[in-house]
Amino acid sequence: MKFVMIEGDGIGPEVTRAACEIVKAAGVRNEWVPAAAGLGAAEQFGEPLPDETLETIRRHRVALKGPCTTPVGKGYRSINVRLRQGLDLYASVRPVKTLPGVKVPYTDVDLIVVRENTEGLYAGLEHVVVPGVVESLRVITKNAAERIVRYAFEFARQHGRRRVTFCHKADVMRLSDGLFLDCARAVADEFPFIQFEEKPIDNVCLELAMDPTRFDVLVMENLFGDVVSDLCAGLVGGLGVVPGANFGARCAVFEAVHGSAPDIAGKGLANPIAVVRSAAMMLDHVGERDAGARIEASVAKTLQRGIGLTRDLGGDGTTATITRELIANLTA
Ligand code: NAI
Ligand code: MG
Repeated sequence: MKFVMIEGDGIGPEVTRAACEIVKAAGVRNEWVPAAAGLGAAEQFGEPLPDETLETIRRHRVALKGPCTTPVGKGYRSINVRLRQGLDLYASVRPVKTLPGVKVPYTDVDLIVVRENTEGLYAGLEHVVVPGVVESLRVITKNAAERIVRYAFEFARQHGRRRVTFCHKADVMRLSDGLFLDCARAVADEFPFIQFEEKPIDNVCLELAMDPTRFDVLVMENLFGDVVSDLCAGLVGGLGVVPGANFGARCAVFEAVHGSAPDIAGKGLANPIAVVRSAAMMLDHVGERDAGARIEASVAKTLQRGIGLTRDLGGDGTTATITRELIANLTA
């Protein structure tokens, strides 16, 4: 079995290395196929997302990816946005679940953020109208709107979830979110056995802060999903613990919600759990269910025991100490 590995920038190499060690310790027999993306690739190849990287992922179909830094002000478009558009990874899925031993104000959070990954305000269509005036276009198409909502409902059906909340701002963006909302309602009709709820995005944020346990599957446009993902990560222990996946019809790229964390990069302080859990999602996706479940169980046990935890989790450990614990807590 071959998995593509994009180490990424900043803390990327530190946390993806930890994930490789844990996947190996879980007994998975696989080969990693390295591919370049990010600042490193820009310096090496003059291009932060070489075509060869996209080709390699298309060939092997499954990748684990560390965070990539997009150089700001150098004329580059976001590497992540281009990767997701280039491979048509239209569905971003972020499971947000309360973890044992992590001190947060809520218990029993168990929700899924499904984010449209290819258009919306991140379509990348921006231009200067006249000096001092710029426009960013918010693209919503019927096809993409329907397929992401259908993805959310299919996900709910397959995972025994009961409700899908469509988040929008259709009262203000009457045309774009109006279309999205119409599409969501039409798709919801195909799933009469799953509850459908439509809610303004600001309202959703309020309720996420007041009582996140009331949500099940949330589905929304690209920018909303980016913001809400970080908010939801904060409900269960922060960016260091929440995994993610980007799915398309042909390929899947697994990556944490967090970025390259330049403030702690290279210091051995990064929490690898988010990427480790992304790797567990990847294993589950390719049918290595047992290894994925054992890694998840080890994460739970490690957090519960509270030994060797990184600073973001209130410990005084390092990437190395927590990785050692994660390996030690893998049961046969
Ligand atoms: P960030 O997610 O990198 O960091 C936000 C805060 O969370 C920082 O204080 C950081 O130290 C902390 N943090 C993040 N991950 C952590 C971990 N695993 N363990 C402990 N602490 C962690 O967001 P920021 O600073 O806005 O972005 C930095 C760079 O990352 C930017 O260039 C951005 O474009 C890129 N980025 C890349 C993503 C990707 O490749 N998927 C996603 C988000 C941002
Ligand atoms: Mg983000």
